[in-house]
Amino acid sequence: METATAMTVVLGVVPLVGWLLWWWNDLWFGLPAKMRCSASGTKLPPGRMGVPFFGEMPNFLWYFKRLRRPDDYINSKRHKYGETPGLYKSHLFGSPVIIACSPSLNKFVLQSDANFIREWPTAKIFGINSLICAQGKAHTRIKSFVLRAINRPDALRQMAVMLQPRVTFANIAKHFAGFEPGPVLDTLDELFKGVMHGFRAFPLNFPGTAYHHAIQCHTKVWEIFRVELEKRKNNPDGAKARNDLMDGLMELKDDEGKRLRDVEVLDNIISLVVGAYEPISLSMMWALYLLAKYPLVLQKLREENMNLSKNNDEVLITAEDVAKLTYTKKVVEETLRVANIASLVFRTATKDVEYKGYSIPKGWKVVLWLRYLHTNPENFEDPMCFNPDRWNESVKPEAFQVFGGGSRICAGNMLVRLQLAIFLHHLARAYKYTANHKTELSLPSANFEDGVELTFSKL
Ligand code: HEM
Repeated sequence: METATAMTVVLGVVPLVGWLLWWWNDLWFGLPAKMRCSASGTKLPPGRMGVPFFGEMPNFLWYFKRLRRPDDYINSKRHKYGETPGLYKSHLFGSPVIIACSPSLNKFVLQSDANFIREWPTAKIFGINSLICAQGKAHTRIKSFVLRAINRPDALRQMAVMLQPRVTFANIAKHFAGFEPGPVLDTLDELFKGVMHGFRAFPLNFPGTAYHHAIQCHTKVWEIFRVELEKRKNNPDGAKARNDLMDGLMELKDDEGKRLRDVEVLDNIISLVVGAYEPISLSMMWALYLLAKYPLVLQKLREENMNLSKNNDEVLITAEDVAKLTYTKKVVEETLRVANIASLVFRTATKDVEYKGYSIPKGWKVVLWLRYLHTNPENFEDPMCFNPDRWNESVKPEAFQVFGGGSRICAGNMLVRLQLAIFLHHLARAYKYTANHKTELSLPSANFEDGVELTFSKL
């Protein structure tokens, strides 16, 4: 009798439980959404949602971390489920998701603020009042100030001078928040690295996790900036001499003439320093690596920049000089395309949204797979080749979305282009170098696994 019960459990219950677990997310999230879709005459995109809680994360991490071919995650879906207008369902980062991977769908999502809001799983480590988390009017007000302060021609002209000859954390910290080089800045540098690390981590706030560490680092950064803010409030006359982004935020007023609260100033200035520094240094690192791999590109870059210096006795260049560097600007665009510093961005559907006969269910996250647009041969011929000359012709509409799009488009997109061009100018004019090419990428942080070894010498 006991043997019969045991057999029933083994043959009946265990497979049933296994089957249920295997299809849990499809049943729990997919089924109700599918029923809503059929009622509205649309269908749910194809895809698998995986086991409870983890969903398809193991598969995702396999492609990102183990194989180091993140875009093959999408290719495997295309292969398995067939062609769609660029959308598949899945379950990632603890939520049911729609993966968006076509230029037109990405553009549609990025431009539909009424249907999709940004809810970055880890954005709260930047502070809920930061531009990154702000919504609606508060977002528009801070964004237009930041764009004026760092991303418009006048501001860029000033920053071009300020950022030379070196583009470092010290420069960003000085121009944005007035910090001078010294022990406080060194501490901030370390703390910011901790914050950035947690930004891309799984949002699990538990001692020992990267996310938990990031929150702790953010708290310490916040305290350092709070002290700075107090100093400024006690010495309002210093603002004129400093003329930096932090003072600008302290002066910013809304439609009713009200200033930002202290927490808003702090959350914003901190997120801007973090947001600016890491992507800039990563894109420089990528430029160095790619130019070492493609010496002919480096040679053309050098020729153009040497020619500019011949006509220009000044060592430092201006934003107007940069505008003349046509090949250098193509190297910048191509570096940004290949580097894919922002691989994915996230939105949440605020209602059921229809796209070309498919449904994006309310409450589901949309993972915009930006990097896939730039590595898909349908958009860029021979995409893995670093070829600045491809920019001689205009690229396929909407296929270049390194900075996102719509109202949330990157606030530093022109600043980073300028900084990269200035960096390339000084690099190409003054140095030659070689790199160890066996380096592997450590995605998702777009960092290099073993630290690329570069040997520099003066030209
Ligand atoms: C290679 C460099 C960079 C890349 C690839 C990049 C990419 C992006 C992307 C894709 C977004 C949109 C996120 C979304 O739609 O959810 C974004 C937003 C943002 N970026 Fe960048 N970024 C870069 C450099 C910078 C720099 C230098 C700054 C300087 C402050 C900056 C500040 C911001 C801010 C504040 C936002 C939020 C904008 C908003 O929510 O309205 N970024 N960035």
